[in-house]
Amino acid sequence: MQFVKGMKCRECGKKYPHEPLYVCEFCFGPLEVDYDYEAIKKQLHRRKIKRRARNLWRYRELLPLNSRPRGALNTGYTPLIRARNLQKKLNVKELYIKNDAVCHPTLSFKDRVVAVALEKAREFGFRTVACASTGNLANAVAAQSAAANLKSLVFIPADLEEGKIVGSLIYHPSLIGVEGNYDEVNRLCSELAGRYQWAFVNINIRPYYAEGSKTFGFETIEQLGWKAPQHVVVPCAGGSLISKIDKAIEEFQKIGLTEKADTRIHAAQAAGCSPIVDAIKNKTETIKPVKPRTIAKSLAIGNPADGPFAVRTVQKTKGWGEQVSDEEIIEAAELLASSEGIFTETAGGVTMATTIKLIEKGIIPRDESILVSITGNGLKTQEAFTGGFGETLTIQPTIQSFEEHYLTNQ
Ligand SMILES: Cc1ncc(COP(=O)(O)O)c(C=O)c1O
Ligand SMILES: [Zn+2]
Repeated sequence: MQFVKGMKCRECGKKYPHEPLYVCEFCFGPLEVDYDYEAIKKQLHRRKIKRRARNLWRYRELLPLNSRPRGALNTGYTPLIRARNLQKKLNVKELYIKNDAVCHPTLSFKDRVVAVALEKAREFGFRTVACASTGNLANAVAAQSAAANLKSLVFIPADLEEGKIVGSLIYHPSLIGVEGNYDEVNRLCSELAGRYQWAFVNINIRPYYAEGSKTFGFETIEQLGWKAPQHVVVPCAGGSLISKIDKAIEEFQKIGLTEKADTRIHAAQAAGCSPIVDAIKNKTETIKPVKPRTIAKSLAIGNPADGPFAVRTVQKTKGWGEQVSDEEIIEAAELLASSEGIFTETAGGVTMATTIKLIEKGIIPRDESILVSITGNGLKTQEAFTGGFGETLTIQPTIQSFEEHYLTNQ
């Protein structure tokens, strides 16, 4: 089944063929996939989706593939939970968590984009895939290309968390640690993409890769009973996920799977790297690049490729943005874990803390439905959390020692 009409410039609308292209030759705007929504509307309905396997391919008509996906690793259909304990603590009526930190091959939402990118790379005939990454994308590319028998080159800032490095190396990619920040890694990779015939998933096949993020939105809507929430809080790095969640909501409406919803989409960033939130607050689409300094390394992109689109998404949906300190990130991650049993990485701490701030400021009303996007797993960023949450009580292996140390301290 083929529903892709071609590619289209996100800025000037110029059309391009269905090829590994990513930038408009007229205005230098980024390209996106152009679908035949009328044809999809005739083919896709709720019952059909419900009957399919619980992975991201259940929405395949709205993904840019020509052939049946072959991916060996099951990706997607992560849990959506009603966070009743947090609801009480935050004094809000309807709080949900979409937990993309579990049920993916490498425990982050980046498995979604990589699953789509690698299928597309295979269709286009690439034998080598590559990426510039702040860590999670590195893990996903390394793991999924191992399973797909593709050679992979993974470029990261050399100072990433141990969990992210080991979580790539174990799959035997060529892992290249660059002495510099993500923006420098990305610039290098853009140059390499011009020189070598490799599929850089987030550079030369970015328009296809980015479509994978829509499935986060599709699943959320399906899991909420075919209804979008009133508020979604989304962590931003390159700024792609946030605009694709909006696209997901729009597409489900366009093909008649859901009623019109006025979902407000809010951006979450760390105070040490908040170029997108700064632009939102300054009411401009112009992104002023920053030098990142935050424990939320996965979000540390100072010059976000999709920054202006992230801002537009927020402005269009009447959302807002907040930035949070490193202390607030840790506190919020602890609150989420101790209230709901979900251990998120620093990026999730950013999202949770931002949600709290938006509620406290009255930007998100307490009686409206809220979805918090938890996109990565805390086991990968343990060093950011060590030392803060109390201590292990060490005892001798005797009842006497237990009672002496534990019971007397109760
Ligand atoms: C855990 C996590 N959440 C969110 C994001 C942000 O995604 P985007 O770059 O699409 O804004 C990233 C990006 O690396 C990430 O690793
Ligand atoms: Zn253009």
